[in-house]
Amino acid sequence: MKKIPENIEKEIIKLVKDLNYHCYRYYVLDSPVISDEEYDKLYRHLKELEERYIFILPDSPTQRVGAPPLDKFERVKHTEPMLSLDNAFSYDEVREFDERVKRFLKTEEDVEYTVEPKYDGLAMELTYRKGILYKASTRGDGYEGEDVFLNIKTIKAVPLKIEDADVPEEIDIRGEVYMDIKEFESMNREREKEGEPAFANPRNAAAGSIRQLNSSITAKRKLHLACYGVGAVSGISFKSQWEFIAWLKKERFPVPAIIKLVRGIDGVIDVIKEIEQKRNVFPFETDGAVIKVNDFELQRILGVKTREPRWATAYKFTAHKAVTRIKNIIFSVGRTGTITPVADLETVRIGGVNVSSSSLHNWDEIARKDIRVGDTVVVERAGDVIPHVVEVINKDKRGKGSEPPEPPQKCPVCGSAVEREEGEVAYRCIGLNCAAQVQERIKHYASRAAMDIEGLGVKNVELLYLQGLVKHFTDIYTLKKEDLVDLPRFAEKSSQNLIEAIEKSKHTTLTRFLYSLGIIHVGEYSAKLLARDFDHIEDLYHVKSERITEIKQMGEKIAESISRFFNDHENINTLEALKSLGVKILNPDFMKEKEEKRPLEGLIFVITGTLPRSRDEVEELIGKAGGHVSGSISKRTNFLVAGEEPGSKLQKAQSLGVRKISYEDLLKLIEEGS
Ligand code: IVH
Repeated sequence: MKKIPENIEKEIIKLVKDLNYHCYRYYVLDSPVISDEEYDKLYRHLKELEERYIFILPDSPTQRVGAPPLDKFERVKHTEPMLSLDNAFSYDEVREFDERVKRFLKTEEDVEYTVEPKYDGLAMELTYRKGILYKASTRGDGYEGEDVFLNIKTIKAVPLKIEDADVPEEIDIRGEVYMDIKEFESMNREREKEGEPAFANPRNAAAGSIRQLNSSITAKRKLHLACYGVGAVSGISFKSQWEFIAWLKKERFPVPAIIKLVRGIDGVIDVIKEIEQKRNVFPFETDGAVIKVNDFELQRILGVKTREPRWATAYKFTAHKAVTRIKNIIFSVGRTGTITPVADLETVRIGGVNVSSSSLHNWDEIARKDIRVGDTVVVERAGDVIPHVVEVINKDKRGKGSEPPEPPQKCPVCGSAVEREEGEVAYRCIGLNCAAQVQERIKHYASRAAMDIEGLGVKNVELLYLQGLVKHFTDIYTLKKEDLVDLPRFAEKSSQNLIEAIEKSKHTTLTRFLYSLGIIHVGEYSAKLLARDFDHIEDLYHVKSERITEIKQMGEKIAESISRFFNDHENINTLEALKSLGVKILNPDFMKEKEEKRPLEGLIFVITGTLPRSRDEVEELIGKAGGHVSGSISKRTNFLVAGEEPGSKLQKAQSLGVRKISYEDLLKLIEEGS
């Protein structure tokens, strides 16, 4: 191995330090001091140096992207057990807790407590040896958990190293891994689009993400950490929870959003009220407040009764809940055939919103909670999260006819057989021509992130399907204006607009096209990965799954699905049909060396007016083909790419003799070269 020059080693050390600091500013303090572009530039530079000199520091940010999948998690024993918490459900019960503490300590004086939100996530233990993160495990049963080190490293707010001259020999830091509500919702939308079952709540989503054998999947799920406790420790000692939290903050660990130190139980109740008030504006889910005796010596004296410490308790908030009845359990069929059970409820008002249905998520959830038609249930709407059934409350009063619901024997829409893949919680309709799936596929094909056909939204797809005009997405391209004008939702102008939008959408990118096909598990991101590796759609025909797994970040499941899709004759016929109907696929994402043709090399473009694609996309396209985009017209400008309503730039171009071209002309230029 080449010896690394001293100045390069210094540069790498500095880059790692700087990048980690910027990560901390961004993910822990939420107050970055450099732009994302500047960060990316430094990151790329570090990566280049690391690869060239094969010198990687353990706390390098490049080590956060995930590692090859594991077969299973190893088990890890906690040096000190991870305890659970006793609950208090009213302020009276909080006062009783305080009285117990005082009785045990044989004191009349007010005790000092810390109060912080109870995060609804997963408890973790992170071990730092000589300042370097070297072990991370789940709580498990409190004594033994699972080794999720590779996954924890992908969480950007987790320091990989404690940057302090005076680091403890070894320290176990405990905290909660959680997912923000917004992130949870957008992930569920993505999952539904990709035909995967939704997670029931942010907690399950965080748990599912942290228990991934493939850490590069965890890396994509935006997880957070809040540190709140210390386990075994050597080489440093803390006097109190407050002092420990101050140390965590100093060492750049993320700590709870609110943590207060108060003396006496009245102060504790004030803080609980404050947290409950802020509950709906926190970006994360919290279901209570945790109250801890501050002084560690007093904690030691108070000790533990079986699993719960005497020195702490959790006050549980009342959720937005209501009691109602399940009228029916219905099944909704998604684009890839996934069948989601939905409870049809007698309408109730919860937290100011009318609720008449609630997702039951998947079949396991129904079985676990033993949910039946006719049941009286508690429905909860926490934060902005979709309502869910918490529990059944009439189990002992059920009538004679009450039976657990049968899983779907056949598709509720098309009657085809259903199957349940091994290890999957969802049932899937296997009918190729299932009306629900077909309509969902067309909706997906036309949607904004896919082929982006303006005017072909959910309602119009349903209408055209019911009219028998579009039974498959290839039929979109045979629509004529005459077919549309007499339909209920159309008139002269709207029909013309739709036909034009369809025409426009025919020029697309390989990423969009691949995404629009609705291949199971292939979302926008994986479509982009494919487009980077394959130049033309034809290069994917009959592809083997091993070829797909060669692509970094593509797992076996997705590779299987892609390979299955491109080895199906029916699908190949569809792709060929789309091409002969005029769909033109360009691939600006193809990054291999051979792309170096750069057909637009040396040419300067100015863009004006509304084009069929966003400005960013057009700029990217020109840039990838070697051209340059300028903001203003000059004599040096070679082409003005003009869309609708071009404005003053067009006049200027004409006066300077600059050639005006359309978006379609631009595509031709790229395809054929100048
Ligand atoms: S302290 C004995 N603090 O609640 C101390 N726990 O019901 C136990 N939790 O397993 C942990 N937020 O997963 C503590 N601010 C917080 C917490 C918290 C959430 C969870 C943690 C624990 C469970 C106990």
